Amino acid sequence: YGVDLIRNFSIIAHIDHGKSTLADRLLERTGTVEKISGSSSQMLDKLKVERERGITVKAQTVSMLHEHNNKTFLLNLIDTPGHVDFAWEVSRSLAACQGALLLIDATQGVQAQTISVGMLALEKNLTIIPVLNKIDLPAADPDRMAAQIESTFGIGRDEILTASAKTGAGVDEILRAIVDRIPPPSGDPEAELKALLFDSSYDRYRGVISLLSVQSGRIRKGDKILLHHTQKKYDAVDVGVLHPEETPTEMLQAGQVGYLACNMKNSSEAQIGDTIFRVGESNRGPLDGFQPTKAMVFAGIFPIDSNDFPKLEESIKRLTLTDRSVTIQRESSTALGQGCRLGFLGTLHMDVFRQRLEDEYDQQILITNPTVPFKIVYKNGKETIISNPNDFPDPQDFGIGKVQEVHEPMVKATIILPNTYLGGMINLCSNHRAEALDHVYLDTTGDEPRVLMTARLPLAEIVTDFFDKLKKTTSGFASFDYEDVGYQPSDMVKISFLLNGRPIDSLAIIVHRSNSVRVGRIWAKKLREVVPKQLFEVAIQAAVGRTILARETISAMRKDVTAGLYGGHYERKMKVLEKQKAGKKLMKRIGNIDLPQEAFYDILRSN
Ligand code: GTP
Repeated sequence: YGVDLIRNFSIIAHIDHGKSTLADRLLERTGTVEKISGSSSQMLDKLKVERERGITVKAQTVSMLHEHNNKTFLLNLIDTPGHVDFAWEVSRSLAACQGALLLIDATQGVQAQTISVGMLALEKNLTIIPVLNKIDLPAADPDRMAAQIESTFGIGRDEILTASAKTGAGVDEILRAIVDRIPPPSGDPEAELKALLFDSSYDRYRGVISLLSVQSGRIRKGDKILLHHTQKKYDAVDVGVLHPEETPTEMLQAGQVGYLACNMKNSSEAQIGDTIFRVGESNRGPLDGFQPTKAMVFAGIFPIDSNDFPKLEESIKRLTLTDRSVTIQRESSTALGQGCRLGFLGTLHMDVFRQRLEDEYDQQILITNPTVPFKIVYKNGKETIISNPNDFPDPQDFGIGKVQEVHEPMVKATIILPNTYLGGMINLCSNHRAEALDHVYLDTTGDEPRVLMTARLPLAEIVTDFFDKLKKTTSGFASFDYEDVGYQPSDMVKISFLLNGRPIDSLAIIVHRSNSVRVGRIWAKKLREVVPKQLFEVAIQAAVGRTILARETISAMRKDVTAGLYGGHYERKMKVLEKQKAGKKLMKRIGNIDLPQEAFYDILRSN
């Protein structure tokens, strides 16, 4: 393929603005796939969770052939995930493109992710083709939304297309714009091989399959190649394009996007953003942008029955073969036994992983309260990042002790909301340790002006309940996105929960001192609901070091009371118990107190 006949592009959009639907229409219109019926058959969303939740988690890529002016163009659509947690993958995918369709729902207008992904595309100097989608809907207001696009991105109205990914209206114009407006990739096929590895998946038989964008030179089947980051060498066993299934080709050359199988056994060797060279060439100047993914939310995952740990660990390892952005470490807890501490890109990423674990591996799991990574700064200048509340220093380590201070990760949030809710939003921000930075009006033409607000707040607040509250405060009309802006010193404390003086290690949480009493009380009450009565009185305490923040007491059981019954949903508990008939074995001992494992299940699922 002559490079001038190639177009590499992405569709970028706020969640639900119609990205997958438009991708389906493009695949159909170019004859890449037969007509796709029904809304559930979106080609690019392969995973079950993606279909259920309607979100794109893993980027997929597909090549299409398109006739235009008697020439056949090769259009490579590089899919990008549509959620803030996966911004890193979006950025990698965009590095393989020269242009992007910026899709905007004509009934919703510019939303928080429209801005974040749009800005990423602008930073990478991509040609942006704005498309107002869903114009078939009566509520569509293309004129107003075009004004928003103009004021946000400085793109003229004459460049904005309108379409309905549902009916197919405007799809031909989109294809024409891709060919006419997006420049072909540059890159010399005669030069030395340099390819960007921008995604990978795992095939049980062939090992890791990498997706690459060839920036210069050619890669052929049989070539000996070298990965820059690991300096490991491989044989290119198979190369080809995704049309939409893997279709082998003789070679991939500068400008092309395709897959590579090279007998790579371990997915950790395929680092996203790495550069592929050919063995024997100078191999200088790796492509920029290699950056390991950064886990921002950590949680412990434990089996309900400790005997299931090997099976759980195996399942987690298998799942992480297809999602390398999850970090794994073993963790053991006196209360929950052996488990794994996993690191995720964000809370949605964590939920998706948990659901996949439960769906695909039929596992019952306990997941501890999520925590963000905190930085502990010592007086001797050393720093450590902790991802487990149990590693948090004790109060006596501060002050005259060896710890200087604790830093927490901060984010800059972008929120778009109707003007009416601005007051409520500013209130919400101040309740969540957020500092409102700025607000501007996106448009003033409609009867309800839209405001773009930015605020700086701790990531920990988002991980707890900021997002849910934002949805409530704005009746679901706000959209939200955030980016990492580094660490800041903060007065954090660890709350421990004690049963008759013995700590339950897996429940410890790190909170800001100003929230500690409130949070301590809430959790002590929750614990009271789930800890069964014993033959003696049980004191439940929430404490920071030796300071008790809250106390609840469970009185001793009278002899004739049926043991083991406590609050919570009976049916759900039975379901859990059904799986493990030997319910007795699942008792955990904290000091002299027997705690059924479902108590943990209930308390950890209650938030
Ligand atoms: P993510 O993959 O999660 O980012 O979402 P998405 O942007 O791919 O959205 P998707 O294609 O799943 O569409 C979201 C919803 O909008 C679905 O219910 C679609 O059927 C619907 N939809 C998409 N395009 C149109 C359109 O042009 N008109 C109408 N009426 N509905 C549409």
